[in-house]
Amino acid sequence: MTDLTPQKDAALSAIEAADTLDALEAIRLEALGKKGWVSLALKTLGQMSPEERQEAAPAIQAIRAQIADALATRKAELEAAELEKQLASETLDLTLPAAELPRGSVHPVSQVMDELAEIFADLGFAVATGPEIEDDWHNFTALNMDESHPARAMHDTFYFPDKAEDGASILLRTHTSPVQIRSMKVHGAPIRIIAPGRVYRSDSDATHTPMFHQVEGLVVDKGIHLGHLKWTLETFFKAFFEREDITLRLRPSYFPFTEPSVEVDVGYSNEGNRRVVGGHGDAEGHDWMELGGSGMVNRRVLEMAGVDPDEYQGFAFGLGIDRIAMLKYGMNDLRAFFDGDPRWLSHYGFGAVDQPTLSAGVGVAS
Ligand code: DAH
Repeated sequence: MTDLTPQKDAALSAIEAADTLDALEAIRLEALGKKGWVSLALKTLGQMSPEERQEAAPAIQAIRAQIADALATRKAELEAAELEKQLASETLDLTLPAAELPRGSVHPVSQVMDELAEIFADLGFAVATGPEIEDDWHNFTALNMDESHPARAMHDTFYFPDKAEDGASILLRTHTSPVQIRSMKVHGAPIRIIAPGRVYRSDSDATHTPMFHQVEGLVVDKGIHLGHLKWTLETFFKAFFEREDITLRLRPSYFPFTEPSVEVDVGYSNEGNRRVVGGHGDAEGHDWMELGGSGMVNRRVLEMAGVDPDEYQGFAFGLGIDRIAMLKYGMNDLRAFFDGDPRWLSHYGFGAVDQPTLSAGVGVAS
C-alpha cells in the first residue's frame, strides 16, 4: 500500500493556509470528493487481501477523519472571521431619526358612535347590539308591520334568496329598530339602551348610500311619557353639538311601531353654505331640519317583545348617525364617508391616541 502520509500532511497544511471558504471547498473536493485521493484509496481496499485490508482500512479511515476535522475547524474559523469583518465594517447610526410611519385615524362614524355612547352612558343608557342579517319577524312583524302593512313595502329591502329553517325571510336589517325587540326579549323591562350600527336599503344617490348608520334609543319604564323623550333628546343634542341653544320641535308623524309618533326637528341657520345647528327654527334667518323619528312605543310592540303594556310605557327614537356627523363636522357629501379615500380620512379622521374609544369596549349582547 502506498504511504498516504505526505499527501495527508500537504492537505492539512493547505487547509491551515486556506484563507477563503472557496479555497477550503477546493481542498475538500481534492481529498474527500468522489474522485478525491482519499476516496480513491478507500476504493482500493476491495482489491486487497483480507490481511492487507485489516491493516490499511483503519489507516485510511483515520486520514479521512483527520482531514474532515481539520476542514470543519478551519471553516468555523473562516466564518467567524467573516462575521467579525462584517460587524467591523457596518456601523449603525443610532442617532438617525426613524423613518416616519403612516398613522391610521379613527373614522368619523366610529368617532361619533363613541361620542354617542359616552353621552348616553352619562344618562344611564347601555349599548346594545343586534345582527345585521335579520329575519322579517324582528325587522318588520314585531315592529307592528305585518305582511300586508304598506310600510313594509316602503323599505326597499335587500332580501336573501334563501329562507331560514323556520321559513322566515332573511334580510339585511333596514333599521336598528329590531334591536329594541331583541333587547326587550332578553332583558325585559325596565330598560334603557341605545343601539348604534349599520343598516341597509336598496338606495343609492347623492344623499343615499345602500349602507348607512343609525342609532336607536329605547327607554321602557313605569310612567314614561313624551316629556322624557324630549328632555332626553335635547340633553343629548346639547352635549353632542356642544351648545346650549338647541331647540327641538316634535312634529306629529306616523310610524307603525310608535303611537303617538313624532318627527324630531332641530333649529339651524346657514353660515356660508354650511348648516349650523342652534337657535329657534322660527327665528329670523333660521329654519327647522329633521334629524330622526321617534314616539311612544306602540303597545302592540311591547306585547310582542314580552313586556306588559299596562304596566310599562316607553319611548323610542331613531337617528341617522352619518347625518349628525356631517352636521357636527361640516362635511357635505355622504358618499365620501364610504369611499375610504385616505386623503379624506386624514383630513376628517380623528387621532386614535388622542381620545380613548368606547366602540370596542362597550357591548350589551342582546
Ligand atoms: N326605524 C325608523 C327608520 O328607520 C326610524 C325610527 C322612527 C326609529 C321612530 C324609532 C322610532 O325608534 O320611534 O326610518
